[in-house]
Amino acid sequence: MHIQLICLGIFQAVVTTNAVTIYGQQTLTTSTTSAAGSEYTGPAAYNPTTLVPPPVPSPFNTQFTLQLQNGGTNGLSIPVDGAFLGFSIEMSVANQVLGKNSSFIQVPFLNLMANLQQRAGRVHVRVGGNTQETAVLLDSTPDGRILEKNATGSSNPTQTPPLVFTPDLLRMMRKISSFVNVRWFLGIPFLVDTPNRLAIAEQGQAILGDYLIGLQAGNEPDLYARHLHRNSTYGPYDYVGEFGDLVTQMSNDANAKNRNLLIGPNIAYADWTTEDIWNTGFVDQFSANLAYLAVENYPTDNCAVQFNTGGTVHAPQDVFPSYLDHNAGRSIINKFLNSTNYAQSKGKKLLMFETNTASCGGFPGVSDVFGAALWGIDYGLQMAYSNFSGALLHVGGQNPFTSPPTNQSTYHQWTVGPVYYSSLVVAETLGPSNATQVLDLNANGGDIHTPAYAIYENGNPVRVGIVNFVDDPSGASTLSVSIAIGGSGVGQPNATPAQVKVKYLLASSVSQKGNYTWAGQTFGGHFDSDGRPIGTENITTVQCDQVNNVCVISVPAPSYALVFLDGTLTETEGAPSTTFPTTAQTKTRNTATVDATLLATSNGGFDKKKLGSTSPGGGVKNAAGAVRPAVGVVGSVLAVVGGVLFVFLRGV
Ligand SMILES: *[C@@H]1O[C@H](CO)[C@@H](O)[C@H](O)[C@H]1NC(C)=O
Ligand SMILES: *[C@@H]1O[C@H](CO)[C@@H](O)[C@H](O)[C@H]1NC(C)=O
Ligand SMILES: *[C@@H]1O[C@H](CO)[C@@H](O)[C@H](O)[C@H]1NC(C)=O
Ligand SMILES: *[C@@H]1O[C@H](CO)[C@@H](O)[C@H](O)[C@H]1NC(C)=O
Ligand SMILES: *[C@@H]1O[C@H](CO)[C@@H](O)[C@H](O)[C@H]1NC(C)=O
Ligand SMILES: *[C@@H]1O[C@H](CO)[C@@H](O)[C@H](O)[C@H]1NC(C)=O
Ligand SMILES: *[C@@H]1O[C@H](CO)[C@@H](O)[C@H](O)[C@H]1NC(C)=O
Ligand SMILES: *[C@@H]1O[C@H](CO)[C@@H](O)[C@H](O)[C@H]1NC(C)=O
Ligand SMILES: *[C@@H]1O[C@H](CO)[C@@H](O)[C@H](O)[C@H]1NC(C)=O
Repeated sequence: MHIQLICLGIFQAVVTTNAVTIYGQQTLTTSTTSAAGSEYTGPAAYNPTTLVPPPVPSPFNTQFTLQLQNGGTNGLSIPVDGAFLGFSIEMSVANQVLGKNSSFIQVPFLNLMANLQQRAGRVHVRVGGNTQETAVLLDSTPDGRILEKNATGSSNPTQTPPLVFTPDLLRMMRKISSFVNVRWFLGIPFLVDTPNRLAIAEQGQAILGDYLIGLQAGNEPDLYARHLHRNSTYGPYDYVGEFGDLVTQMSNDANAKNRNLLIGPNIAYADWTTEDIWNTGFVDQFSANLAYLAVENYPTDNCAVQFNTGGTVHAPQDVFPSYLDHNAGRSIINKFLNSTNYAQSKGKKLLMFETNTASCGGFPGVSDVFGAALWGIDYGLQMAYSNFSGALLHVGGQNPFTSPPTNQSTYHQWTVGPVYYSSLVVAETLGPSNATQVLDLNANGGDIHTPAYAIYENGNPVRVGIVNFVDDPSGASTLSVSIAIGGSGVGQPNATPAQVKVKYLLASSVSQKGNYTWAGQTFGGHFDSDGRPIGTENITTVQCDQVNNVCVISVPAPSYALVFLDGTLTETEGAPSTTFPTTAQTKTRNTATVDATLLATSNGGFDKKKLGSTSPGGGVKNAAGAVRPAVGVVGSVLAVVGGVLFVFLRGV
């Protein structure tokens, strides 16, 4: 409470001096229709609005059985990989999220990606969005930055600024991939047909090499006409024609060898349907060029509040319950089921290229609470079950993570939002084998508040994920889920193990902001994190009843439980645990108003001594959370502290 009040004071100062002008980052919008929200005038990402959780459903059945079997299970998804839930970073904020330049990379970002690499082997990140569409590559910018916006040139309802960027943005991405196995998607400017349009394809290939896995051609082209980027007759055939023009241009460019990495049609499913595109013959015509097919979709549009679009203004309290059940994810995906089927028939993978709780930064009290973490898990697993091949969570508001507003970055650390936990937990649920198949178990008689999934490898169930969306501090709504493998129910021998391991994602309420725990570890609250999980890991062992062929798993309301049926944890199967300490430290002169112990605990202990200093010249200098890798930097393991390996970066 104390800390929150202090922080609010700082936010007021920032707002009145109009410091926050970054497109696409501090966009968790303040709703004028929310009583609590309307009082608040700080950056929207830190709006303290807390909403009332939905009541316990009535009736609510808390005991049910999940009967599984080895082999012979129908309806499994296509094989998916653990990098399933990646991230989409609006190009205009790449220099805030990834780093300032190729010699100044954000350590929290590296740590957040390393956590996922550890579980999945790699991470998929897209740099693009509306701001890629007019981005121009220059050798250098007048003030030496790698990225610059021109807000005067903003031209559409979401005030997308034209961008200029330098090859150092791509070098920064490449350097990140030398620390953590991040594979990148980029976008080719589609709105303009200027001669240097292909520069990002040329330089992207030259600099990123194999780390470049896709080039988006057009971002939400079905909105081009509505946003006045094209005339009113612009339709699916026009897009397909322009895609063809792009392929021709690339074919005539010896340096654009990556014309097989294109991604289309990337529609928002707003003014066209996916079938409108498929029916043009697009996929057959450009099959050789299409690395992936993709769509973009958000469950709700919250742009009206922030950008005055004239659209519907939704009250967060009204929409909150709609995120807290199994229909939330399904209702986004239903319209694409024909397309995941169609993609399979064409031998293509379909991606959800941009998504999150709501467009334009999400809702205060909905997007920044524990309920959104559960929503993201169910939605992510539902997409996997529905034969998507991946989804990218768009960085906006507090999600999936936020670097502090620019001129607070010298004394604040990062905020890790709920859907980052979704990404982490889904990575661990799916694991790194690339062969995982997912089944929605239609659990508890199809009760939308208690979805459960089984995860298969080689046709056998290996893990079970159970969500309890219900908010009930009394404990009366804790689920008691009986898992049986084999047995008379399916005419197989009993195959229930002697014991299973369980990891929980927990918070006291679906409305809780920050401090969620995954197997006991957390990324804290606002400005608490350098991207390393804090706390001692807590994995629960459940003894099963092999005589009666059942393991009974308790699932609190609210929570997510991940059950490891064969006891094999996936948390380090993707890669060894790797973390990056914050070698360049916080400017303590400015931290007087922030509790030093808060920063200290957020730092995993390793750098405590440095952060504890509160006087100038106390040995702590430089900007927060950045690492300056020299050419040929190597990471070498120096110490094991609290079971976590710390990697020190040094030049050679
Ligand atoms: C943030 O930056 C603005 C302008 O860049 C400056 O006027 C303001 O004082 C800064 N705020 C803080 C809290 O440092
Ligand atoms: C990279 O960014 C840092 C921090 O803004 C700056 O000090 C440094 O000069 C920049 N390096 C280059 C090569 O531009
Ligand atoms: C910014 O955009 C406006 C409108 O398109 C243009 O007139 C101006 O020259 C641009 N400024 C810069 C610095 O590119
Ligand atoms: C719309 O644009 C297309 C393609 O540029 C052009 O052929 C057509 O004449 C335009 N229609 C109108 C009404 O301006
Ligand atoms: C599924 O997509 C195909 C290809 O666009 C289309 O022909 C078919 O009509 C669609 N089916 C449904 C039920 O929408
Ligand atoms: C996913 O694809 C598999 C394999 O084609 C199919 O059996 C299954 O029904 C599909 N699932 C959904 C939800 O469409
Ligand atoms: C999974 O696929 C990726 C990308 O193709 C590959 O690099 C990785 O080695 C694969 N992992 C396994 C366990 O096969
Ligand atoms: C998170 O936990 C810390 C330490 O217990 C506490 O000081 C802070 O207020 C909590 N933050 C939130 C948002 O609950
Ligand atoms: C570990 O997690 C279990 C399940 O949530 C809980 O009951 C137990 O108290 C936790 N133990 C510790 C040491 O936190």
